[in-house]
Amino acid sequence: MRDKNILITGGLGFIGSHIANTLLENNNIVILDNLTTGNINNLNNPDNENLKIVKEDIRNINLDDLTSDIDYVFHLAAMASVPLSIDKPVECSDINLNATIKLLESCVKNDVEKIIFSSSSSVYGPNKNMPLKESEQPMPKSPYAASKASCELYLKAFNDSYGLNYTALRYFNVFGPGQDKNSQYAAVIPNFISSILEGVQPEIYGDGEQTRDFVYVKDVVKANINAAESDYNGIVNVASGEKLSVNQLYEIIKTTLNSDLEPEYLPERQGDIKHSLADVSNMIKINCKIDSKDFESQLIETVNWFKTIL
Ligand SMILES: NC(=O)c1ccc[n+]([C@@H]2O[C@H](COP(=O)([O-])OP(=O)(O)OC[C@H]3O[C@@H](n4cnc5c(N)ncnc54)[C@H](O)[C@@H]3O)[C@@H](O)[C@H]2O)c1
Repeated sequence: MRDKNILITGGLGFIGSHIANTLLENNNIVILDNLTTGNINNLNNPDNENLKIVKEDIRNINLDDLTSDIDYVFHLAAMASVPLSIDKPVECSDINLNATIKLLESCVKNDVEKIIFSSSSSVYGPNKNMPLKESEQPMPKSPYAASKASCELYLKAFNDSYGLNYTALRYFNVFGPGQDKNSQYAAVIPNFISSILEGVQPEIYGDGEQTRDFVYVKDVVKANINAAESDYNGIVNVASGEKLSVNQLYEIIKTTLNSDLEPEYLPERQGDIKHSLADVSNMIKINCKIDSKDFESQLIETVNWFKTIL
């Protein structure tokens, strides 16, 4: 993608800043972010002349003005915390759903070519039909998951009603450099790494045999860009399609960091799902393929980044 005008909402956050850093090389970028969890230091070059940062809340800004002359929108701004969404369901729906509908309306008004929406594997909820296919009935269990599932429905409705092009990407457990160790997604990776580096015994909830599908943040960036460039309107899982148990993950991180710290096993957390695994066959529709063989080198890159901040 080059010489395009691009809006990235949530572009100062973990995933959004990786998208911005990649696209800034050849495009004009506008970032909308209110800095609730985002940080300007996530950007490689915040002073780049092709970058404009709008530090506003998506609920308050004039989105028609913001999207005029924009070719592609990557929409990541969200209340991205399940527990917070349970505490504040109305605020969650204002930020995650109502602001998204307003954004879609302004994309239609301004003839935006395509919007790429950051959805979540949480829309599958407790569904046990592994590997999970996009065609499964959503079973959201939290206001956060319900807001993401609702946005997907609105994207389809806007495509049917006004011809707005979209892809909704359902990320599984994203990890990589720049991830907040307090983030609740894939928190297990930053937690294990930071605990070992700080010499603190890592904690595992349950027996550690629960499995997850981890996806590297740079692959998520690729999925976003390829989705924007593809003709596909619909939902795509973004995952490796490989399951890894928390115990296996811990062994890999322990070996990578040359540590002999043993984890402490705590009681299972209420509401935690035992297994999560994506069917990744739809990724071909956005010309994307993730090579899960790269996992260990991706983990090493992540560990090296954590070493620079701890
Ligand atoms: N990280 C994951 O594993 C994962 C998994 C599934 C889905 N997602 C989704 O991907 C997107 C990005 O997630 P992330 O991990 O980078 O989270 P993040 O919290 O780092 O990024 C979200 C960004 O949105 C900004 N933001 C929040 N509320 C806003 C508002 N009202 N107005 C303007 N900006 C606002 C924050 O400041 C932050 O920079 C989110 O939509 C999240 O729901 C993430």
